[in-house]
Amino acid sequence: MLVSSTQMLQKAREGKYAVGQFNINNLEWTKSVLLACEEMRSPVILGVSEGAGKYMCGFKTVTAMVKAMVEELGITVPVSLHLDHGTYEGAKKCIEAGFTSIMFDGSHYPIEENIEKTKELVGICHDLGLSLEAEVGAIGGEEDGVIGNGEVADPNECKMIADLGIDMLAAGIGNIHGVYPENWKGLNFEVLEQISKITGDMPLVLHGGTGIPADMIKKAISLGVSKINVNTECQLSFCAATRKYIEEDGDKKSKGFDPRKLLKPGAEAIIETVKEKIELFGSAGKA
Ligand code: 13P
Repeated sequence: MLVSSTQMLQKAREGKYAVGQFNINNLEWTKSVLLACEEMRSPVILGVSEGAGKYMCGFKTVTAMVKAMVEELGITVPVSLHLDHGTYEGAKKCIEAGFTSIMFDGSHYPIEENIEKTKELVGICHDLGLSLEAEVGAIGGEEDGVIGNGEVADPNECKMIADLGIDMLAAGIGNIHGVYPENWKGLNFEVLEQISKITGDMPLVLHGGTGIPADMIKKAISLGVSKINVNTECQLSFCAATRKYIEEDGDKKSKGFDPRKLLKPGAEAIIETVKEKIELFGSAGKA
């Protein structure tokens, strides 16, 4: 059974660890993430961007696949199916399709409009027992066509959005989607601390988890980050393992071109990456 993200994140906030949101792209990806989390006894949030949802033939296909996979693989850890950086329309579609957790990214709207739309979606989600993530201050970089300029969140605006009763808050603190540039200045812990103080025990979300050094991850968790999103890092591991397989002529060996063999090294690489992140985030054994 799929669950909302609320309880797992409240437990993480109290226990000073973070639950990973691992974005999925296809069947192999989903299987790898679920198997890694089950092995580590970690709760998990499966992230689906609107672009990935479209790629996987729509949100209803994704929900059906994830539900069936949880059952058929015998997954017993809490699994939340979460829309990543949803538009207002995308959020409504995912609610209808059976997602258990929604992110509405209204960070590009003026704050009044972000508040208005977030407020409406909190009501809808909570009536159905779903969790809602909101965003203040854009995350830098690009993810599936969602482009942000890396604006640092205003703690007072964070407070206004948090007071709407949302379940988790993503706040821009210098984090970026994708690989961090050489000259990246790091996370803005001063602002994170202010946001954490002003929003009380709200679970905070750190987007752009790929490539953030371990000491910064740990410090962010100590300041209230309870959910960390990872997407690019699994893509890089998958890609590197697949490249290695082909460059070593794996596909030319006995039936090595069979997709079940061809995609295996990449799928195994995702499992390893997810397990490393679970160790770092401290969610192992917290299921
Ligand atoms: P990365 O691709 O940088 O890991 O970011 C993932 C993310 O924040 C998803 O919303």
